[in-house]
Amino acid sequence: MKGRKQKLKKGIFISLEGIEGTGKSTQARLLSEYLRKKGYDTVLTEEPGGTTISREIRRVLLSTKHDKMDYMAELLLYDAARIQHIKEKIAPALNKGEIVITDRFSDSTVAYQGYGRGISLKLIDSLDRIATGRMRPDLTILLDLDVEIGLMRNKKINKRDRLELEDIKFHKKVREGYLKLAAMEPGRIKLIKAPKGINEIHR
Ligand SMILES: Nc1ncnc2c1ncn2[C@@H]1O[C@H](COP(=O)(O)OP(=O)(O)O)[C@@H](O)[C@H]1O
Ligand SMILES: [Mg+2]
Repeated sequence: MKGRKQKLKKGIFISLEGIEGTGKSTQARLLSEYLRKKGYDTVLTEEPGGTTISREIRRVLLSTKHDKMDYMAELLLYDAARIQHIKEKIAPALNKGEIVITDRFSDSTVAYQGYGRGISLKLIDSLDRIATGRMRPDLTILLDLDVEIGLMRNKKINKRDRLELEDIKFHKKVREGYLKLAAMEPGRIKLIKAPKGINEIHR
């Protein structure tokens, strides 16, 4: 049943985070479908991506051909894609009072390029200030799962990109990074243990 049209005074910005295969894309889709049915104008988007320019940057970032990519170049490309994503898509939707659900945002950069690659968290934070102007999601849902289970899920569907090809040790560092972020910002980041069924997590 379709709900009555709901109007918000202010947009709501929600991000989904977590390592590979935790169910971010699945849950982002389910959440946006749920909110749309409830009558809310909802934008479902993803990083890196969301706009034509950002999708082109995504292709460069995730191509398995690019095994020579420098970590700093990688970081700057993620930030470049994010700037374009906010400007063209996220900010305009929030200004119209819509709900924006993004599959990954700044926390991914802290987790992967910071905790995973070992780039200084201070530097990442300074660049984030430039890229986002300190725009933070109102709510971040962190899906947490054993690295092995997540990678196995994605292997089953033959999802292999440049980041997924990194070794288990890298993904474990990323997961630990995410858990540290959740401990530092418990008000914004809600942790959901993800070895459960898709519907249970959605509820
Ligand atoms: N809770 C779950 N239990 C089992 N399999 C799941 C669950 N959530 C997602 N999956 C499956 O795992 C794979 C990866 O899910 P996806 O949502 O693409 O993860 P992510 O976007 O975090 O990489 C998909 O095949 C999806 O159907
Ligand atoms: Mg995904």
